[in-house]
Amino acid sequence: MTQVALVGCGAMGEIVARSVYPALGGLAAAIDPDPARAAAVAGLTGARPFRSLAEAQREIQVDAVDVRVPHHLHAAVTLEAFRSGCHVLVEKPFATTLSDARAMVEAAERTGLVLAVAENYPHLRAVADARAALEAGRIGEVLALRSTRAYRVGGVWVRDGWRHGRGPSGGILLDQGTHQVSLLRRLGGAVEAVSATGNADTVSLTLRMASGVVAQSLLTWSVPGPAAQAEATVLGSGGRLDVVVDYDNDEGGCHVWTPAGTERLGKENYYDSHRLMIEDWLGAISTSRAPVVPGAEGLEDLAVVLAAAESVANGGAFVEVEAGRS
Ligand SMILES: NC(=O)c1ccc[n+]([C@@H]2O[C@H](COP(=O)([O-])OP(=O)(O)OC[C@H]3O[C@@H](n4cnc5c(N)ncnc54)[C@H](O)[C@@H]3O)[C@@H](O)[C@H]2O)c1
Repeated sequence: MTQVALVGCGAMGEIVARSVYPALGGLAAAIDPDPARAAAVAGLTGARPFRSLAEAQREIQVDAVDVRVPHHLHAAVTLEAFRSGCHVLVEKPFATTLSDARAMVEAAERTGLVLAVAENYPHLRAVADARAALEAGRIGEVLALRSTRAYRVGGVWVRDGWRHGRGPSGGILLDQGTHQVSLLRRLGGAVEAVSATGNADTVSLTLRMASGVVAQSLLTWSVPGPAAQAEATVLGSGGRLDVVVDYDNDEGGCHVWTPAGTERLGKENYYDSHRLMIEDWLGAISTSRAPVVPGAEGLEDLAVVLAAAESVANGGAFVEVEAGRS
């Protein structure tokens, strides 16, 4: 069995330790510089607690590393794991700079180790159902896309201060922008350029899609909102579809509307996607196949978000997505 170390036993690490790993045979190591957090995850999963990956590797065998640390540490932990021969699942945003992201993808290619990104949307059934509906022409010709991620961030998500702060991990573009770009790319294809205005807490993006489709995204974590929301809408010449995401219950799904009526496909909870992505990562390791979201996809999402950040800094001018690879 793959010996997995969880690096980062904060809010997200604790969620996967509680809800996913026990059914997969537990964890080998729970790693966090905060000993109480490492001990709590160890207690949930049968893992041994450690303060660092290096300390764990001196004591036990580690085959794979699940990275759940603040954003600016994703690259360093991933590259350390690769240097010691471990496969990696790394949270979104993939990295905070394109040079780090490229180094991570290159390290995976050089070593042949699996590099998967913990990006939820490609694992949601609602997204798969939406793609199938679009490919079947259910809403006719696609004319426009929009996504909205609107909620109030609080509780455990802000207790350490880095997420909504002005530091290298902070701001909604990095935290939620990569999710929304992943979603829009799944529904609308490649992004060529982006214009964005806003601040660290609320941002509006206009995306120039390679297909010519009009696309917008609005991100804010300063408003209250229901747990289930239509995060993306695709408008077509013959109807529309909504990707509804539910963070609390099982009301997520794809809703297809045409003049003939509404069809509601699926019933899912967003957090189930964490189980699916971890199972996919472990399956990729054991069968030597690519994961559903490889590092290259994380790099593409990051390239759009960093172009958006540059646009915000430049007063909203369009910025080409670097290398045009999205
Ligand atoms: N995909 C999702 O749905 C989703 C949801 C929430 C958070 N996340 C992501 O999960 C990651 C963690 O977010 P969080 O909210 O759990 O943050 P958090 O601050 O609650 O937890 C991060 C933990 O990492 C620890 N840490 C810091 N440096 C470390 C190091 N070098 N080695 C080991 N541990 C270290 C901290 O002590 C802390 O306990 C972020 O990348 C975030 O974007 C993803």
